[in-house]
Amino acid sequence: MCGIVGYIGPRDATPIILDGLQRLEYRGYDSAGVAVIRDGDIHLRRDVGKLANLRRRVEADPISGSIGIGHTRWATHGAPAEHNAHPHISMDGEYVVVHNGIVENYLELREELMAEGVQFKSETDTEVIVQLIERFAQNGANHNLTEATRRAVQLLRGAHAIVVMSRQKPDELVAVRIGNAGGVAIGLGEGENYVASDIPAILEHTRRMIFLESRQMATVRADSFAVQTLDGQSVRGEVHDIPWDPVSAAKGEFKHFMQKEIFDQARSLTDTIRGRVDFEHGTVLLPDLNLSEAQARALTQMVIVACGTSYYSGLVGKFFIEHMARLNVEVDYSSEYRYRDPIIDEHTAVLAITQSGETVDTLAAMEEAREKQATLWSIVNAVGSQAMRTSDGYITMNAGPEVGVASTKAFTASIVDQYLLALYLGQLRGTLTPAQRRAYTHDLGRLPDLVGRTLENDGAIKQLAGQLYHYRDFLYLGRGINYPIALEGALKLKEISYIHAEGYPAGEMKHGPIALIDEDMPVVCIALKDALYEKMISQIEQAKARGGIVIAIATEGDSFIGSKADHVLYVPESAPLLSPVLAVIPLQLLAYYIAVRRGADVDQPRNLAKSVTVE
Ligand code: AGP
Repeated sequence: MCGIVGYIGPRDATPIILDGLQRLEYRGYDSAGVAVIRDGDIHLRRDVGKLANLRRRVEADPISGSIGIGHTRWATHGAPAEHNAHPHISMDGEYVVVHNGIVENYLELREELMAEGVQFKSETDTEVIVQLIERFAQNGANHNLTEATRRAVQLLRGAHAIVVMSRQKPDELVAVRIGNAGGVAIGLGEGENYVASDIPAILEHTRRMIFLESRQMATVRADSFAVQTLDGQSVRGEVHDIPWDPVSAAKGEFKHFMQKEIFDQARSLTDTIRGRVDFEHGTVLLPDLNLSEAQARALTQMVIVACGTSYYSGLVGKFFIEHMARLNVEVDYSSEYRYRDPIIDEHTAVLAITQSGETVDTLAAMEEAREKQATLWSIVNAVGSQAMRTSDGYITMNAGPEVGVASTKAFTASIVDQYLLALYLGQLRGTLTPAQRRAYTHDLGRLPDLVGRTLENDGAIKQLAGQLYHYRDFLYLGRGINYPIALEGALKLKEISYIHAEGYPAGEMKHGPIALIDEDMPVVCIALKDALYEKMISQIEQAKARGGIVIAIATEGDSFIGSKADHVLYVPESAPLLSPVLAVIPLQLLAYYIAVRRGADVDQPRNLAKSVTVE
């Protein structure tokens, strides 16, 4: 969603901000802008569409300054248009603001301000913020930027991340966070400082960051910063050292980030497992979970909350935890969770799965769990994210930055994290024997290599995509632990190729979706050599009998399936519990190559954002 970058220091702010915004492009946006202050004047450039348009505008009419703020906007109030793009300047031209979130009471505030004679230049909700700041600065706050901002934001309803600067105070930026409209990170440099909604925007410049909590604000100068609550209490900001490497975020040899990230999975899963497993003794170490044996034994149930791909990952994790830790697991959409008064207590562990750690629905589900006294865990990829910081314990995915909007390597990493969690719980709760633990960890140790081998079938998948890309509807079927993979395969295709696709538990096909099957319907069936293999073969036969084009995801060495399906994509044999990690790879690649054949914008699909910070 929207992205924010700010800079204050001796260098020219404009290129630093534009480059920072570029790093947030993957989040999805429809317009962008930058404002800097030089010689007491605010200079503003904005444009609709891609950041390249804004860059061209800045090249044609350059601006520079040692303090500045920039923004990529994803329209909520007011169409994507230059006058609605951020930054927004106050009526008298004294203050300028960028904002993520929605001012829920903006209409009422706007009316009040208009009654006082304020003239608005945009249709946005954001503009009321800057007009309020100017009003308070001129009446009562004596042009104190921090004080005027504090007074203004206290009138706002909703969740917000805001950065503001003033012509009167060209030596400071003020940043505010209220609720979960994305993060606010303060990046600490030498004689220069940064503000950003997301870590990658400023990681090139510094790894030392402070994260504002809800209802905190920071006054940032080139050589100092001060954090306080909105009530004016001073806060000692904890400095985090962020480990990500910006170089690994580059596309390298690949055409798209999504392709790179799919191929990254053998490495990323090695990083997910690294340092956490003693293969010799079959033990798992998850110190950041902060879980004692007594607490683990006292658990009576677990609830997984997540959205989209992370939700499907949770459906796989349920199998692991129920099987290894003998703990009942429910999996819920985060967006639904708090609306059904869930029955949980202090013996419930609620696990949030979120690669971004900033998905607003998942954060809200976590709040619900917190209020009901549950133990709160998270599985996150973004180190330092809100989900990680508000949990009692966490497990990082260690997948590295995932830039493509369609999640791939974070999906497999979060599955592996849950496998580790299940083993760890089994170990603490005594539900697994040492021999079983050794067998499970041994299976896990083989996984990165099997992933590498699965990726070698890339050529066959690319070729098949060439035969399938023109179909309009796809059905994906799976059973048992691979049913969630059918859902994920369909979601990947929908997201990036805009082809209608549905995932179904294979046994449900005959209860409805079978009516759709004809010679125009490719049916992707995950039919691995496991306990449900024969049942999947029977579904394939039923689909074939209706003229469907069957694509089977099958286990290497299964020559029989070739006589039943029209096309077969093979994955290596693995332990059944880990087979989803392999089965999803051909589906990721199939979606990717179909989208490429259709000329779609694979890394930034229309209407989607990497980090969904609105409800
Ligand atoms: C995945 O391809 C999607 N873009 C989307 O469903 C995503 O998984 C969902 O928005 C949840 O995101 P999170 O993991 O960052 O919470």
